[in-house]
Amino acid sequence: MQEKIDQYTAEINAFSPANADELEAFRIKFLGTKGLIKDLFEEFKTVGPEEKRVFGKVLNQFKQMAEAKYAELKEGLDSGLKTQDLGLDLTLPGDGFEVGSRHPLSLVRNEIIDIFKRLGFVVAEGPEIEDDWHNFSALNFPQEHPARDMQDTFFIRKGDGSDDIALRTHTSSVQVRMMESGKPPFRAIMPGRVYRNEAISARAHCFFHQVEGLYVDENVSFSDLKQTLFHFVQELYGEGTKVRFRPSYFPFTEPSAEMDISCTICKGDGCNMCKYTGWVEILGCGMVDPNVLENCGIDSKKYTGFAFGMGIERITNLKYVIRDLRLFSENDVRFLKQFQTDII
Ligand code: DAH
Repeated sequence: MQEKIDQYTAEINAFSPANADELEAFRIKFLGTKGLIKDLFEEFKTVGPEEKRVFGKVLNQFKQMAEAKYAELKEGLDSGLKTQDLGLDLTLPGDGFEVGSRHPLSLVRNEIIDIFKRLGFVVAEGPEIEDDWHNFSALNFPQEHPARDMQDTFFIRKGDGSDDIALRTHTSSVQVRMMESGKPPFRAIMPGRVYRNEAISARAHCFFHQVEGLYVDENVSFSDLKQTLFHFVQELYGEGTKVRFRPSYFPFTEPSAEMDISCTICKGDGCNMCKYTGWVEILGCGMVDPNVLENCGIDSKKYTGFAFGMGIERITNLKYVIRDLRLFSENDVRFLKQFQTDII
């Protein structure tokens, strides 16, 4: 018996598990209900009284030693202290982890915001689910007026069958919310997502992003509008980018215009992007229609203002030459990771 105890003691002292499985095998072998220590106790029952006196103590000490060793090894494994035994080397460099990149639309939106902030514009937001008043009526779209068909609207039918709630078709609705809830002067830009009922293709999508601008104060004129947008374009696309204004129509502005810039790709020489005209349209703008000011409770005799709205996708396409709008919402990492990585 003493021989066995000596042999087991040596084995236990030398034992060093590489992992939890080995430790469990150790437990079963020595401390399990059919383990070697149990066998020793069985054998102990059969020895004579003289040996019992000697081995009783020895055996109990041996058992305690085995249990203590097991507890110590288990704690070491659990707390990871036995890392060398586990084949880990903590001095090796760790696995790198991939840092995300900002979405191109966010990059461009932030750039637009920065430019206008430097001109004293604040940033405002409004809801994407809008009522008829804010999306249309207050903006001088009369009921049943064909101008409402300029934008294919997703209406939301309510339980009572009425459908005067819709996904906003433009961020111009935020102008109304802003003017209704404050007093002039207003100088704000309003970025956000808008929705239109369009079939999805390379050139159209059922949702996209706009930045709206509004400046209302005493004596705001069309020349303020031109200078502001001219400055914006120089900042965004570089000095020397040309602008031109073409007369246009929007119910909420009078007069209205669309602004073109000299093509950023071919610098005006003519290319695919500008359809060989040298010019690309980037936004709609105009002087806020007095009806809109009055609808929002603002005295149109005292105040005038300008407004503009641009699509962020369009601005982004011209910056990065992206020809398929669907890329923006497909979340293909091969596309997304081509853009500047500036977040940790
Ligand atoms: N809301 C117009 C659209 O979505 C864009 C626009 C045009 C906004 C002229 C304006 C503006 O504020 O003055 O097509």
